[in-house]
Amino acid sequence: MMKNPCMILLALALVSFACAKAVTSKDAVRFDSDMEAEQGDLLKARGEPGQNDQSGERDNMDFAEGKSGGITRFEKVPADEERLIKDMALILQEKMAADYPAGQIRRGAHAKTLACLQAEFIVEPNIPAELKRGIFEFPRSYPAWIRISSASGTIQSDKAKDVRGFAIKIMGVTGERFQPRDEEKETQDFILMSYPIMPLGTVKLFHDAVYYTTKWSPLVFLSRLVMSGNFHIINELRKAQQNQISPLDIRYWSTTPYLCGPDHSVKYSLIPASPLKSSLPPLLTDHYLAENMEKHLAAAEASFDFMIQVQRDPVRMPIEDAGVEWSEEESPFIKVATLRIPPQAFRTRERKELAEELSFSPAHSLSEHRPIGGLNRARVEIYRSLSRFRHQQNNKDLIEPRK
Ligand code: HEM
Repeated sequence: MMKNPCMILLALALVSFACAKAVTSKDAVRFDSDMEAEQGDLLKARGEPGQNDQSGERDNMDFAEGKSGGITRFEKVPADEERLIKDMALILQEKMAADYPAGQIRRGAHAKTLACLQAEFIVEPNIPAELKRGIFEFPRSYPAWIRISSASGTIQSDKAKDVRGFAIKIMGVTGERFQPRDEEKETQDFILMSYPIMPLGTVKLFHDAVYYTTKWSPLVFLSRLVMSGNFHIINELRKAQQNQISPLDIRYWSTTPYLCGPDHSVKYSLIPASPLKSSLPPLLTDHYLAENMEKHLAAAEASFDFMIQVQRDPVRMPIEDAGVEWSEEESPFIKVATLRIPPQAFRTRERKELAEELSFSPAHSLSEHRPIGGLNRARVEIYRSLSRFRHQQNNKDLIEPRK
């Protein structure tokens, strides 16, 4: 086996990846800028595992709520899916409780806020008829909040390569809700990340990643991927982690599918369109991404084209595996809106607090844009229960911004 160059390469990649993971999760966190000093305190306090008694939580992880809205004709649900979803939610909740002191619980993933920005979502007039659904039915402008984040479940320096998250919350949205009993009544969330696919594309794969990396170590999960012939996933996970120049200058993808009316499944993408571009600082700092955005938004607005890609073939463009990219040759992305981010100061205490209080979820949606596919079914449940857990533990109410 070791004679095979790929395997040697594989072993090398594995070891380097595992080491990177281990390092990033424990040692790379040293802060020097005063604005984020508090995050340093948070980490220093980590020594004292949360006093959060969560034994009661286990039982009232009521998932029944999420079941409203049923399953669409585009979806196939594996038999043990609900068990895997509940298990993931529990493991992530236990990790959050262990990682942070009571009252300072952060998100179980995408824990570090890079920016919380005010924006405007402007729907295009000339959209193809098949896409004129829900919020895209009429050309108009909506107010929006954006939270830009680093994907790791641990707050770490920007020097650590990572995937970046871009969550949009559009407000003043009316129409039939995907989940009428959901907390949010007039918002439409779009949640994207800085890579075209989610390499852990099924609930089973994602569950195993959460289970083995939390209960054992990243190396155990990686070796399981190798043994099951999924080396390509390791490669994709490694490629997805980058030192980007500025979160305002990179592309994002939803990776998971959504409905656009009853007849179409779609995916989203955000393409940067700002005339002004940042450059990589000669020396990366712990917060160079926020610093680059601050410089950009002090000088000029930023903007993105919001794009939709329609599923044209159910086999080559699957719903139930977010690890498969839909070919843009076969189905090009179509621009349906502009996201305009005006010049603003965002490195303030108010914005930091708002970023912690906001909740983004695929469930915050009109039924015309409802989330579909395994990962989204899992996220609907997990984001709800974990967002409630962190708000509860922080003695904060769930809020729905109106402007
Ligand atoms: C089963 C699969 C997944 C699990 C278990 C998971 C877990 C989580 C959790 C626990 C949070 C924090 C939620 C909160 O406390 O408010 C989160 C946030 C986030 N996730 Fe996922 N996630 C999954 C799949 C994805 C996918 C496919 C994407 C691709 C776009 C994604 C992008 C994000 C982003 C951008 C955020 C930050 C949202 C914010 O700013 O509040 N996640 N995820």
